[in-house]
Amino acid sequence: MRSIGIGLIGWGTVGCGLIRILRENAALMENRLGTRLELRRVADLDLNRPRPVQADPKILTTRADDILEDPDIDVVVELMGGIGAAKQIISRALQNRKHVVTANKALLAHAGNELFALAREMGRSIQFEASVAGGIPFIKSLREGLAANRIQTIFGILNGTANYILTRMTDEGLSFQDALKEAQARGYAEADPSLDIEGTDTAHKLSIAGAIAFGTPIQFDQVYIEGISKIDPVDIRFGEEFGYQLKLLAIARNTDDGIEMRVHPTLIPNQHVLASVKGAYNAVHSHGNAVGNIMLYGLGAGMMPTGSAVAADLMDLARDIQLGVPTRIPPLAFPEDRISPVPVKPMADVVTCYYFRFAAVDRPGVLSKISGILGQHDISIAAVIQKGRQAEETVPIVMLTHEAREADVRNALEEIDRLEVVHAPTQFIRIENQETDQMA
Ligand code: NDP
Ligand code: HSE
Repeated sequence: MRSIGIGLIGWGTVGCGLIRILRENAALMENRLGTRLELRRVADLDLNRPRPVQADPKILTTRADDILEDPDIDVVVELMGGIGAAKQIISRALQNRKHVVTANKALLAHAGNELFALAREMGRSIQFEASVAGGIPFIKSLREGLAANRIQTIFGILNGTANYILTRMTDEGLSFQDALKEAQARGYAEADPSLDIEGTDTAHKLSIAGAIAFGTPIQFDQVYIEGISKIDPVDIRFGEEFGYQLKLLAIARNTDDGIEMRVHPTLIPNQHVLASVKGAYNAVHSHGNAVGNIMLYGLGAGMMPTGSAVAADLMDLARDIQLGVPTRIPPLAFPEDRISPVPVKPMADVVTCYYFRFAAVDRPGVLSKISGILGQHDISIAAVIQKGRQAEETVPIVMLTHEAREADVRNALEEIDRLEVVHAPTQFIRIENQETDQMA
C-alpha cells in the first residue's frame, strides 16, 4: 500500500504537536492503518524562529505553493489560522484535488459552507475535528456515535483560554490580565486573544457543532455572543456564596419554536457536571433523545491535544483514500440536500434564570421599589442578599430570579437603572439550572 503524502502549512503551536505525533507514534499509526502517513513538506513564513519541535530541514519551505502544487501531497493540513489567506490556501488545495485537514474554526464559521461545497464539487474531503474542543473527539461523536439521536441540548465549555482565566480568577484570585498572560504563555490563546475572551471563538465552535447536531448550514451570524472581559471578580465571589461557579458556556437547545444558540458567562450550580471543569480543560454535555445525557471531557487547547485531533483526521482520510472514496461521512453529517436553515430563537425570547447585582443606596423602601419593578415585568425573585449597611451609601444588593424572559429582564433593568437611588448599571449574569436534574 502506498504511503499518504502530507503537507503542513503553519509550523506553530499545533503544527509542532502534529509533527511530534507523526514522528513519535508513526509505527503505531502505521499498524492501525496498514499504510504510512508521510510528512513530505512543512511551510511557514519564518523558518528560523525557535520552536519546541523541529522538522527535517530538507522538507522546510517558506512557500505554501510548494505544497499546493506538489503532486506527491495527498492531504494539505492548514494550521496557519486566520481567515483570508487560509481560505485561499484551502480553496487552492481542493481545486488541486487534495484533501484538507484544518483546525481553523474561525474560517469554518465564516466560510465553511462555501468550502464544503467546493470540496464536494472537487470530490475531496475537509476534516476539522480539532476545530471544536481541541483534543476531545466531539465532532466525531456527533457525526458518528450520536448519529441516531435527535440532539436536544449541547452545553459546552469550549474555550480553554476563557476557562483557564475564570479558573485562575476563582481559585487563586488572579487578575484577569495576569490570568490571560499565563494562558497565552501556555499556547492556549488565539493569535488575537480577543477572540477567546469576547466569546467569539466559542461561538465559532458552537456554530460548527450546532450545524452538525441540527442539520443546518453553519449559522455563525445567528449566535448570540457575550464574553468574559467585563466580568467583575466580585460577581464570581457572590455567585460562589449562592453555590454557583461562573463559566463561559456555549448553549444550543432544540426547542419547538426554534433553536437557541448562545454564548455567554453563565452561573451553574456546584453540583452541575460542568462546574468542576477547570483550567484549559473543555467539556461538552449533550442530551440525545436515545442516548440520554453524555459528557465528553479533555484538554481543549494546546500543542499535543490539538495535534492529536489533527492526526486522527489524517487517519480517517488515509482510510478513505485507501477505500477510494472522497469521504464516507459528509462534513456536516447530512447529505447536502437535507441541510436547511432552522430559525434561531432571538435572544429576547430566551427564558432562563438570572443573577442581578444592584448598586443601590441603602435607604428604606429601595428594595421594595426594585422588586416592584421586577414584578411588573413578570420577574419573580428566588433569593436576595444585601452586603453591608451604610446609610446613604451604595451597597450591593444581589438577587437571583426564577425563570424569566430576556426581553422582560432587559426592560426591567433599564427602568431600575433610571432610579435615582441606583448609582451604577446593574450587573446581570444568566443562570442555567434547567439540566441539573437530568445530569444528577
Ligand atoms: P500559531 O500562531 O502558533 O501558528 C501558526 C503558524 O502559521 C505560525 O508559525 C505562522 O507564522 C504560520 N503562518 C501564518 N501565515 C502563514 C502562511 N501564509 N504560510 C505559512 N505559514 C503561515 O497558531 P496555532 O498553532 O495556535 O493555531 C493554528 C490553528 O489552529 C488556528 O486556526 C487556531 O485557531 C487553531 N487551533 C489552535 C489551538 C491551540 O491550542 N493553539 C487549538 C485548536 C485550534 P508567523 O508566526 O510567522 O505568522
Ligand atoms: N484559543 C482556543 C482556546 C484554542 O483557548 O480554546 C482551542 O480552540
